[in-house]
Amino acid sequence: MKIAMVSSECEPFAKTGGLADVVDALARALGELGHEVDVYLPRYRGVDPPGPAQRMRVVLPAAESVDLLSARARGYRLRLVDHPRSFDRAGFYGEGGTDYPDNGARFAVLGRAALEAIRAEGGGVALLHGHDWQAGPAVLLRDLCYGTDPVLAGMATLVTCHNLAYHGWVPRERVGSLGLPATVGAPDGVDLLREAVARADIVNTVSPTYARESRTPEYGAGLDDILRARGDTYLGILNGIDPRLWDPATDDALPQRYSIDDPTGKAVCRSDLAGRLGLDLRAEDGGMPLFGMVGRLDPQKGFDLLTGAAEAMLADGARLVIIGTGDDRLVRGLREIGARWPRRLAILERFDRDEARRIYAGSDLLLMPSRFEPCGQSQMIALRYGTIPLVRHTGGLADTVVDADADPARGNGFVFGPAEPAALVAAARRAIAAYRDTARWGALVRRAMACDFSWSASAPRYVEAYDRALTIRRRRSGGGPAA
Ligand code: GLC
Repeated sequence: MKIAMVSSECEPFAKTGGLADVVDALARALGELGHEVDVYLPRYRGVDPPGPAQRMRVVLPAAESVDLLSARARGYRLRLVDHPRSFDRAGFYGEGGTDYPDNGARFAVLGRAALEAIRAEGGGVALLHGHDWQAGPAVLLRDLCYGTDPVLAGMATLVTCHNLAYHGWVPRERVGSLGLPATVGAPDGVDLLREAVARADIVNTVSPTYARESRTPEYGAGLDDILRARGDTYLGILNGIDPRLWDPATDDALPQRYSIDDPTGKAVCRSDLAGRLGLDLRAEDGGMPLFGMVGRLDPQKGFDLLTGAAEAMLADGARLVIIGTGDDRLVRGLREIGARWPRRLAILERFDRDEARRIYAGSDLLLMPSRFEPCGQSQMIALRYGTIPLVRHTGGLADTVVDADADPARGNGFVFGPAEPAALVAAARRAIAAYRDTARWGALVRRAMACDFSWSASAPRYVEAYDRALTIRRRRSGGGPAA
């Protein structure tokens, strides 16, 4: 099958979060299953094709032309949409904490360029797979502007919601810049994610639990009505990770590599990390675990819960290292706590791929107290690195982490329920107690490292979803059996 993905991020070319890893790894996994995948990505500042590129000019209806740079990436074709006015900027989505006001129009250029390229090349693309609101314009444009186009009309659409918190809101006075009919959306503007979710042949999110949760007002971010209305055309498909990209046995960033058969290097990674960060790991009372946290400093990730819990956790003896960038207000409280516990808490406010890998490897536990988590990938990486996840029971975390006290035979982590600091502190105490039982901890680490979250289970589920989208599309365009 020929698939066109439209995404605002793709690792290693452009990344702010898990979306980038998922697009790259899924495209590759589909390639390995024999499918042909094109990934359409904006050519942001500093992004170059991974190898010799073919340049193609596509003319957009507004008489603007855009260059498309196509090159083989690892297992798929990367197509960079080169439109400097839209994408040659300091940020992907904004600067200094403020979104670019023309984001809708910028991602409409991405979508338009993809559709025009598919059309110019005479079709063959069975399915358009859009990721998050940034792919909304592609889906809307196809329906509203190319709905009778002989090449594009039969193409099925699938939209993956990686995060319902971002909708891509375009106020009415800017709707004209999307190139869509003036009547689209609500009177005051267009919610690009809502429109895309309403229109796509199939919609999915990235874990079964989040698919259930997001149908409720508490988690649906204002889209629960429409997600419920989709019935069985809204699916939950768990993300995977690429076990070759995340492997402590081959990871060049680590001071010493290790594996399930020879885990000694993990202790070296741990003391290297603590030493460099000035954390004191002296074993008083039988040893204290090092908790790591990797990710966007975003309310979603539960940083406020952590701020409420950190003082008690550190007083209990926990050591904590945090790496990430994002909302400055969220880290201020933690920085103040860090000033009181300089030998127990380290905060690295930067984006650093290699240091993040050393934290996955060198920590004993990985914290993910997320308020909501469509899938989450850090917990899967942590397991692979023998680092025990401590998570809140929500979304993909609930689908991948089993509490070791509640289910000693299958447990691979620690899980708490209420979104309250006290619940996090209590789970951390359970984890500290387990850590001090050396035999139990060793068994837990081995069980963690044996977990398999590769794409081999999930990529075929996307293929099934694509097939269903094609069936639905054929019915909609009158070419197949009636529903
Ligand atoms: C978003 C979600 C995260 C998910 C990722 C990839 O970043 O917040 O839970 O793992 O997308 O799907």
